[in-house]
Amino acid sequence: MLYEDVKAMLEKRGQEQLLKYYDGLSDSDKEELLCNIEKIDFSVLDMLSSPEMKQVRGVIEPLSALGMDEISAKKDRYNAVGLDAVRKGRVGAILLAGGQGTRLGFDRPKGTYNIGVNRELYIFECLINNLMDVVKESKSWVPIAVMTSNINHEHTVKFFKEHGYFGYNSEYVYFFMQDMAPAADYNGKIYLESEKKPAMSPNGNGGWFTSFVNAGLLGEFRKYGVEWLNVFAVDNVLQRIADPCFVGATIDSGCVCGAKVVSKAAPDEKIGLLVKEDGKPSIVEYYEMTDEMMHSKDENGNRLYNYGVILNYLFNVNEMLRVMEDKLPVHVVEKKIPHIDENGNMVKPSEPNGYKFELLVLDLIHLMRDCLSYEVDREKEFAPVKNLTGIDSVESARKLLEKNGVAI
Ligand code: UTP
Repeated sequence: MLYEDVKAMLEKRGQEQLLKYYDGLSDSDKEELLCNIEKIDFSVLDMLSSPEMKQVRGVIEPLSALGMDEISAKKDRYNAVGLDAVRKGRVGAILLAGGQGTRLGFDRPKGTYNIGVNRELYIFECLINNLMDVVKESKSWVPIAVMTSNINHEHTVKFFKEHGYFGYNSEYVYFFMQDMAPAADYNGKIYLESEKKPAMSPNGNGGWFTSFVNAGLLGEFRKYGVEWLNVFAVDNVLQRIADPCFVGATIDSGCVCGAKVVSKAAPDEKIGLLVKEDGKPSIVEYYEMTDEMMHSKDENGNRLYNYGVILNYLFNVNEMLRVMEDKLPVHVVEKKIPHIDENGNMVKPSEPNGYKFELLVLDLIHLMRDCLSYEVDREKEFAPVKNLTGIDSVESARKLLEKNGVAI
């Protein structure tokens, strides 16, 4: 696009501030800026002016889970089905590691954080160690694709290489980059990160499948025979990946997707809940629950809305292809956005100063025909590292690692 065309387009959208420093740039920087602007998906900003685009909920009902007792009773059968699937190459893993981990306050990729105390033990290493349990049991490698963003891609790939893929077979490790979305001030004006760069941030974890397909990796995974993708977050160091029992139970249930859930620690625990919405599986945020829903119980005194998701899902590939073109809701989140001010000075805010726009993997669940809610023991499988201290922190994750016999 020529400068005049970009300028006209920005004026139409009220985003001319992006060209504020254009005249003072070198020719190559001018070109880079125009190119950066052309790549922006401006449509996410419509969320700010059209409240009607916000997610409207349908009728919410409880969704029961396959409980730990039942799983334990059928463990051998589920394990056999799951191991068979892993051995036949039907299961692939997707590690979501494109986030910025702002709450942790660590400026490198979260997976490169050393959670060890007496030895080096990186978050990525914990995850690979967990996956190795399945590799050893099945005697077959599980292909794994790591989703990064253009902010942390290089560092992530280098880190895996430098650490010898933590003993994993590098032929089975892939990387792909997710898309970015603009970050704007409270008036919807996109910030400039530098004179030649609009402020962009990863667009959430919901676009993983499209990015995975666009990177040509579905084709690669298909070569192994992959039919199921186990998607999981980088920050849960106790995450079980390609867990044969979970895979087996999901296949056995006939569902097109499975979600690992934990029983809520308290009625008002801040965790997304797996429920039914208009008859289909869905995840609602804790703040969308009314007091009545939070506390309602069945005739046996069990909480009706009890199962929280831990960002570990198993998706059937064909079902994902079927819904790939469906639109996901865009979530508007308040964040701290570094930028240059009107005088060209760098600002690193200590408080939120605008919006980022994200698609979320949890919204994919509502596009699925059905979903097996599969209960796991939070003490054994849920140790998220979101903060440095307190709830869901380095501190709490270390305790849980030790409790599970992991030397740290
Ligand atoms: P979080 O919601 O915890 O976000 O991500 P975050 O960016 O890592 O951390 P905060 O909120 O800034 O502190 C849950 C999972 O989704 C991935 C993260 O890497 C993590 O595994 N994620 C998040 C992406 O892959 N891409 C994104 O754009 C956002």
